[in-house]
Amino acid sequence: MSDKDTCITRREFCVTTCQVASGVSLATLFSGCGGSSPTSPGGGASSPLSVMQGQFANARVQVPASGALTDVGGAVLVDSIAGLFLLSRASASAFTAVDAICTHEGCTVNGQDGSTYVCPCHGSRYNRNGQVIAGPAKANLRQYATTFTDGVVTIAL
Ligand code: FES
Repeated sequence: MSDKDTCITRREFCVTTCQVASGVSLATLFSGCGGSSPTSPGGGASSPLSVMQGQFANARVQVPASGALTDVGGAVLVDSIAGLFLLSRASASAFTAVDAICTHEGCTVNGQDGSTYVCPCHGSRYNRNGQVIAGPAKANLRQYATTFTDGVVTIAL
């Protein structure tokens, strides 16, 4: 075997080694990107609630029953200077409002899975009345009384 043959062999060795190393690196990257579940920590997938601005005055927050609140079962995240609320339409004339701050560690509950509110931080789930249906949260969300007049929902604080 000549020196030239040895040099070619070394070169071939280096090329082959680099190709294998690159392949391993790419496989690691792709498995890192595709290995996670598309579901939230608490179970099924959740979608973000739409956000509506609430008008605060006289210890009340008012929100027009439009957008996602047009249909029974619809829900929104209400943003107001008095705080954040989860508001859902229970029937043609009844609405349910609960605090949007998760009782586990204080994240804003801003997702839903069907008729279930989902916290994005650790996956706690609440029903439309704010009752915990899956932890880690243990305490229910505070519920507020609501009224509905002339297309406007009023949340009494
Ligand atoms: S803060 Fe909501 S589940 Fe932890």
